[in-house]
Amino acid sequence: MDSTMVEPPNKKVKVVNSEEVLVDRFCDPQKPQVVTFQDVSAAAYKIKGGIQKTPCLKSQMSSTFDMKIYFKKEFLQYTGSFKERGARYTLLMLTQEQKKAGVIAASAGNHALALSYHGQDLGIPVTVVMPVIAPLMKIQNCRKYGATVHIKGANLSESRIHAMKMGQEEKLLYINGYDHPHILAGQGTMGLEIVEQVPDLDACIIPVGGGGLIAGAALAIKNLRPNVAIYGVESEKCPSFTRAMEANKPVYTETHSTLADGLAVPTVGVNAFATAHSLIDKMIVVREENIALSILRLLELEKAVVEGAGATGLAAVVEGLVPELQGKKVVIALCGGNIDTTALGRVIERGLAVDGRLVRFVVQVSDRPGGIAELTKLMAGLGVSIKDIFHERAWIKTDIFSVQVKVVCETRDAEHSEELHQAIKSKYSSYTWGPRT
Ligand SMILES: Cc1ncc(COP(=O)(O)O)c(C=O)c1O
Repeated sequence: MDSTMVEPPNKKVKVVNSEEVLVDRFCDPQKPQVVTFQDVSAAAYKIKGGIQKTPCLKSQMSSTFDMKIYFKKEFLQYTGSFKERGARYTLLMLTQEQKKAGVIAASAGNHALALSYHGQDLGIPVTVVMPVIAPLMKIQNCRKYGATVHIKGANLSESRIHAMKMGQEEKLLYINGYDHPHILAGQGTMGLEIVEQVPDLDACIIPVGGGGLIAGAALAIKNLRPNVAIYGVESEKCPSFTRAMEANKPVYTETHSTLADGLAVPTVGVNAFATAHSLIDKMIVVREENIALSILRLLELEKAVVEGAGATGLAAVVEGLVPELQGKKVVIALCGGNIDTTALGRVIERGLAVDGRLVRFVVQVSDRPGGIAELTKLMAGLGVSIKDIFHERAWIKTDIFSVQVKVVCETRDAEHSEELHQAIKSKYSSYTWGPRT
């Protein structure tokens, strides 16, 4: 691995939309770098003391899924994600000159937080360029950790172009959060810990964005335990590593808004792909609704606040996409916990709906006194709790003595919802059941 970090950091240019943009020389598609096990071991030695060795404990969910599930709780790192491992190692590997000058990165979240915090801890100036869509809390926390924050770019790709340019002008080293070789080596230390904490594991499930985490962790695990199966998981909204595996090289993949925002990387890292592709046994693509459900399960059963990207590994189990792992000892990386409170509220509601515990229906009831009371009495009798109720007269064309009532209510489980459904069906002739009402 090329570990020298001398100026100038970004010499090459490529043309994008007839504009010349700088190429990160550490992540050059013409010269991908394959990280080695020795690099990961060196990183582990260097970052020890500056990073949490997070717990990797057996989960309550093991019996539900007939699998010995262990969660590697990376959301317990100080800034809430595994990104600190690679960030700290990369900062520690800078030359003295570079440490003085500082570094720059483009990130909407966890990489920015990790670099800002460890930069402050090590006395290295950090500049982060965040897209306008970056959550306010993350922007404020980066500033709290002493970073210079620029809000530039409609999305991460645009922020990256700004950051590379600014880095060149101000002689700051640009650090790619999922593909710089030192980032990969740092992330690999999670794999070393997993093998130490669960020595007889059969498989490890890892969420994949740009591929840095799976590259480093798979390298560590496969070197120490060649028979352990490595599973990568992505959201259906951004399956870029799956596409790269199919094409046998990183390829641009359209991404869409996803709960797993940390995984929304359209083209995976060239070094990450070169390092990881031969070590991954299976790539899995999960549905968004199962990411929401996994966040809910982790809250309720593990008392863990995990963000969408961090819960994607569990979603593969929840969706039933790994039947071959039944009865096996499986480590799932819960790699981040930075979810906005407002987003968490929405996700909980979505998870409850997917789980059949939040129900919506529209029913036509009598407009005479007591018509709505009859409906609410029926629901109360079944122990169903009403969250929202809304009634409208004007839109019913057929019967002026009827009123349409729209209800959102909470039930205990899917079976309880079905009980309510049957009760509504037998009492009312006109109703519509389900989320599209
Ligand atoms: C919480 C979380 N999990 C997983 C990932 C994926 O990591 P990588 O981009 O190294 O594949 C990210 C990336 O930002 C993340 O924030």
